[in-house]
Amino acid sequence: MSVSLFAFANGNNEKWLKPHKTLTEEQIKQQLPFYPSRASTNGHKLTPEMFEDPKICQGCHNEIYQQWERSVMANSWEDPIYRELFKRASAATDGKVDNFCVACHSPIGLTSMNANAASFDTDEHIPGVNCEVCHHIVGLTGSDNGAYILAPNKDKHVKLGPRTDAESPYHNTQFLSLQTKSEFCSACHNVSHPFNSTPIERTYDEWLESTYNEQGIHCQDCHMTPGPGKKANPGKSAVMGKPREHIYSHEFTGGNSTLHQYFDDPDSAELAREMLRSAATMEFIELPANLVAGEMATIKIKVSNVGAGHKLPTGFPEGREVWIDFKVNTADKEQIYRSGAVVDGHTEEGTRNFKVTLGDANGNVVDLNVWEVDRILSDTRILPNGYSVVDYTFMVPEDISGNITLDATLNYWPFSQKLVDELLGEGKLKVDIVNMTSAQIKLPVTKEKSAKAIAMK
Ligand code: HEC
Ligand code: HEC
Ligand code: HEC
Ligand code: HEC
Ligand code: HEC
Repeated sequence: MSVSLFAFANGNNEKWLKPHKTLTEEQIKQQLPFYPSRASTNGHKLTPEMFEDPKICQGCHNEIYQQWERSVMANSWEDPIYRELFKRASAATDGKVDNFCVACHSPIGLTSMNANAASFDTDEHIPGVNCEVCHHIVGLTGSDNGAYILAPNKDKHVKLGPRTDAESPYHNTQFLSLQTKSEFCSACHNVSHPFNSTPIERTYDEWLESTYNEQGIHCQDCHMTPGPGKKANPGKSAVMGKPREHIYSHEFTGGNSTLHQYFDDPDSAELAREMLRSAATMEFIELPANLVAGEMATIKIKVSNVGAGHKLPTGFPEGREVWIDFKVNTADKEQIYRSGAVVDGHTEEGTRNFKVTLGDANGNVVDLNVWEVDRILSDTRILPNGYSVVDYTFMVPEDISGNITLDATLNYWPFSQKLVDELLGEGKLKVDIVNMTSAQIKLPVTKEKSAKAIAMK
C-alpha cells in the first residue's frame, strides 16, 4: 500500500495524467488501416465492383428500396451541411480527419474508392450508407468511430440478415443476430474526437444506459417501423418472399425534417415531425392558484422524454436543440413576459434549452469547428424516460386584472438558422422549427395575496 503510494507521489502516474498512444505509425496502420476511423475490411482490399447497385435490390425489394432512398442515411454523402462542414474540417486539419468523416458518411467510399473532401469536386458517385454496407457488416471492432468490419463477398453472394429462414432466388442469405441489436448501429452512432477522444456524439451509449436496453427494446424497434408507436408491419420484404408478421421498414426516421425538406420530400419531413411529437410531454407543475398583481411570480414547467430511447435530443451536438418558448399574456393579449424567442437566427439569451455545449482546449464554446472540441461544457439534454424541470420568474404588472395566460411551446431544430447561414450562406436553407408539444393555462390575477385563492381547474 505505502509502496504504491510512494510510487504515485514520485511521478509514475504520468500515464494517467497524460494518456498517450504508444504505437508507432506503422503499427497503427496495421491495426487501423483507415486511421483515424476504426473501420476494417478484415485485411482485404476492396473495390467498388464488389458492391452491388441498390437499384438491383429494388427489383425485388421495391418497398424497402423506396423507404431507404428517402432516408437521411441514403443521403449521408449528399447532405449539404455535412459537405460544407467536412470541407472545413478537412482544410483545417490538412486532410487528417478525412478518413474519419468518410468512414460513417460513406463506408464504401472509404474502403474502396479513396473518397475524401476532394471527391466533392469530381463527378464520381460516392454512395451514402446503403444496402450493401449494412448487409455486409460481418462484425465490429468496437462501438464507436466507424468500428465495423465490412466484408462484401461477390463470389459467395451472401446477404446477411435478421431471419433464419430467408430464401432468395438471387442471392444466398445468412442470419446475423448482430443485425437485430443496437450494437449494430453503435459503430456509427457513437462519435469520439479522433485525436483527443472527447465523446462528441453518444446515441448508442445513451441507449445502453437506459431502461430500453434493460427491456430489450433496440434502435430497430423504434427506427425500423412505419412510424412511432406502430409496432407491427405485416407483409413481405421481397416479391418472392414469405409473408411475415412484421417487416422491418427502412425509413430510419429521426428528427431532421429540415433535411427532408431540402431534398424536396414533404412526406418524410412529416414523418420526422411525428417522431419528434411522440418523444416528449410538457406540463406546468406546482402552479399557484392565482398570481398577484405587482408581485414576482415563479412558474415551473416539467418536460419529460417519453419516447426517445436516448437523450432528447441526441446526435449531432453542434446543432440539435430542444427548447421552450414561454409567453405570458394578459387577457387583452398584451405580452408581459417571454423567454425562448428566436433572435438573429438563434435562441435568445436565457432560453431554457436542452442541448450540449462543446468547448475547446481553452474552455471557449465551439459551435461549428468541431475539430477543435476538447471538452463538454454542459449537457442539459433529457435522459431516456427522464424529465427536467425549469422555472421562470417574472413581474406581474400592478395594473392588470382578469386572467393571465401561460403559453409554452416545446420546439426542436436540427441546427440554428444562424449556423446554417454561416455554413451555406444566407437564404440557402430554411430551418424547420418543429412544435413538439405545447401547454397552455389561464390563471386569475388578484390584487392581494390570498391564502384561500380559488383553485384552478
Ligand atoms: C430476384 C429477387 C431479389 C433480388 C434482386 C434481391 N433480393 Fe434480397 N431477398 C429476396 C428474397 C425472396 C428474400 C427472402 C425474403 C423472406 O424470406 O422473407 C430476400 C432476402 C434478403 C435479405 C434478408 C435476409 C435475412 O436473413 O432475413 C436481405 C438482407 C437481402 N435480401 C438483401 C438484398 C440486397 C442488398 C439486394 C441487392 C444487392 C437484394 N437483396 C436483391 C429476393 C431478392
Ligand atoms: C443502416 C443499415 C441498413 C441499410 C442502409 C439497409 N438495411 Fe436492410 N436491414 C437492416 C437491419 C438492421 C435489418 C434487420 C432489422 C431487425 O431485424 O431488427 C434489415 C433488414 C432487411 C431485410 C429483412 C426485412 C425483414 O423484416 O424480413 C431486407 C430484405 C433488407 N433489410 C434489405 C435491404 C435493402 C434492399 C436495402 C437497400 C435498399 C437495405 N436493406 C438497406 C439495416 C439496413
Ligand atoms: C455505416 C454507418 C452507419 C450505421 C451502421 C448506421 N448509421 Fe444511422 N446514420 C449514419 C449517418 C452518417 C447518419 C447521418 C447522415 C446525415 O445526416 O448526413 C445517420 C443517420 C441516422 C438517422 C437519421 C437521424 C436524423 O437526424 O433524422 C437515424 C434515425 C439513424 N441513422 C438510425 C440508425 C439505426 C437505427 C441504425 C442501426 C440499425 C443505424 N442508423 C446504423 C450512419 C450509420
Ligand atoms: C423507444 C424508441 C427509441 C429507441 C429505442 C431509439 N430511438 Fe432514436 N429516436 C426516437 C425518437 C422518438 C426520436 C425523435 C426525438 C429525438 O430527436 O430525440 C429519435 C431520434 C433519433 C435520432 C435523431 C436525433 C436528432 O435529433 O438528430 C437518431 C440519430 C437516433 N434516434 C438514433 C437511434 C439509435 C442509433 C438508437 C439505438 C442505439 C435509437 N435511436 C434508439 C426513438 C427511439
Ligand atoms: C462514427 C460515425 C461518424 C463520424 C466519424 C462522423 N459522423 Fe457525422 N454524423 C454521424 C451520424 C450518426 C450523424 C447523425 C446524427 C443525428 O442525426 O443527430 C451525423 C451527422 C452529421 C452532420 C449533421 C448533418 C445534418 O444534416 O443534420 C454533419 C454536418 C456531420 N455529421 C459532419 C461530419 C464531419 C464533418 C465529420 C468528420 C469530422 C463527421 N461527421 C464524422 C456519424 C458520424
